[in-house]
Amino acid sequence: MSPDRGNIVLIGFMGTGKSSVGRRIAARLGYRFVDTDRLVVEETGSSIAELFETKGEPFFRDRETAALASLQGADRCVIATGGGIIDRPANSGLLRALGFVVWFIASEEVIFERVSRTAKRPLLKNDDPKGTIARLLKRRAPIYESTAHFKIDTSLRSHDEAAAAVAEAARLHFQ
Ligand code: S3P
Repeated sequence: MSPDRGNIVLIGFMGTGKSSVGRRIAARLGYRFVDTDRLVVEETGSSIAELFETKGEPFFRDRETAALASLQGADRCVIATGGGIIDRPANSGLLRALGFVVWFIASEEVIFERVSRTAKRPLLKNDDPKGTIARLLKRRAPIYESTAHFKIDTSLRSHDEAAAAVAEAARLHFQ
């Protein structure tokens, strides 16, 4: 099946490497790198943490969906998305309409270790970030799975190894 458009769309949980690996995939292929979180920050002039705190999660989800919708004419982009973008059921169709959708996976331990390095994830600023990760992953995994064309586990791969694997899978998908 050939995709509707020639973008590579990265979905998956926080801390699975979408942005770091996405930049490398874009550099390899000469594609533009786009990040829906960054689009929301540029559009609203507020950080993600501020948006969650002052306007609430539903407001953020609306802006995130609007950012995704604004990309529908894009081509030759690597598009990294926020981990909760699939929480809105209509977004799965928008993601797939953009091109080749890749699900980034990592083990719960690796995710916890990576997200603990920064304090920028509002959903994990609570007394039980490990439990929150487990609960969200359980709910989201089937949605990531049904939305994606391809999956990659980044737990044991370097950013460059993961980027090479995704670029090769995209080449096969697009040909
Ligand atoms: C979120 C993931 C974040 C960001 C926001 C909510 C989520 O993006 O959109 O904090 O619901 O999983 P990353 O997946 O890039 O960390």
